[in-house]
Amino acid sequence: MSLTVAVTGPTGEIGGSLIDALEASEAVGAVRGMARRPFDPVAAGWRKATYQRGDILDRGHLTALFEGADVAVHLAFAIFGDREETRRINLEGSRNAFEAAVDAGVERLVYASSVAAYGFHPDNPQPLTEETPALGSPSFYYSAQKAELEEALDEILAGSELDAYVFRPCIVAGPRATMLIEQTVGAARLGDPVPLLRRHVLERIPLLKPILPDAGVPLQLVHHDDVATAMAAAVEGRGQPGAYNLAGFGEIGVADIAAALGWRSVRVPRPALGAGSAIAGRLSFVNPQLEWATALATPVIMDTTKARSLLGWKPRFDAAETLLQTAVSARESGFLD
Ligand SMILES: NC(=O)c1ccc[n+]([C@@H]2O[C@H](COP(=O)([O-])OP(=O)(O)OC[C@H]3O[C@@H](n4cnc5c(N)ncnc54)[C@H](OP(=O)(O)O)[C@@H]3O)[C@@H](O)[C@H]2O)c1
Repeated sequence: MSLTVAVTGPTGEIGGSLIDALEASEAVGAVRGMARRPFDPVAAGWRKATYQRGDILDRGHLTALFEGADVAVHLAFAIFGDREETRRINLEGSRNAFEAAVDAGVERLVYASSVAAYGFHPDNPQPLTEETPALGSPSFYYSAQKAELEEALDEILAGSELDAYVFRPCIVAGPRATMLIEQTVGAARLGDPVPLLRRHVLERIPLLKPILPDAGVPLQLVHHDDVATAMAAAVEGRGQPGAYNLAGFGEIGVADIAAALGWRSVRVPRPALGAGSAIAGRLSFVNPQLEWATALATPVIMDTTKARSLLGWKPRFDAAETLLQTAVSARESGFLD
């Protein structure tokens, strides 16, 4: 077996680790990656993988990317932004990618959905298995788009021979995926009346360090390298097509994130944060990122038995280790200064 694999979004937090895993896979002969930014695959150490610039909003770019490929992997997405901005890339672009994969006649499609596809509903079963319908949360653009896309994928694939693997990772973190920390720092600085002053004195006066509100909601984390091994298994055609939850062992909370950043946290009652997220939803025209508060207000813990048993997935890092590696990387890259 010498598979040719075409990947949208190989330069992102998950993409880098996935390319490394595909480079290491004996079943993979060639990899093509496509995203919009200039990127040097040789400088990144890619040997099997090549890179071409292109946009998933351009159907011709996708046709060229997927032509002759055995497997298509769709990672390209706009995670942050407002509803309208993200809608075009995420919905129109992903539909383009799904349709182009069918038209190109690839054998398998691997798509990164998200835990957010389930939606943040208080009556969700805990833990969530893949049997739970992916209904999304209408008040949270990212969740609503992920749910809509899973439905679109089913429609587009109906009647085709293509096998689809749909992954639903929880928050992805690790040294190459510091989005969690960046967003936490960004949120803490939102509403900060004197951000410049604070930044200068932050390290010297501990009392001025941010205090995160902790409603005691447990969170799962998955390391980017562990997401990559699950996706590489799907690329190789292990297990069977379908939806797979991905999360490392263990859970963390906001207090753990605060401690990893050298900050403090204060316990708040859960309804207060829930109400805060409802207000945040209404205020999202001021800052759309506030909709992400929804993700911290309702527990969504996933069961990952299916990926372990069908794909033979063995995540190497638990939530605590993944958080530690993420915080170290964010600190080393100066993000917390
Ligand atoms: N990170 C997480 O915590 C997490 C958790 C669950 C699920 N996921 C899902 O996993 C997937 C990948 O996430 P990620 O964390 O790797 O995202 P990321 O770091 O934001 O990377 C996004 C990738 O998509 C590319 N891209 C964006 N718009 C594009 C366009 N119009 N045309 C072509 N390429 C485009 C970006 O490159 P350019 O900007 O250069 O084009 C980049 O390579 C997404 O679907 C995301 O929703 C992520």
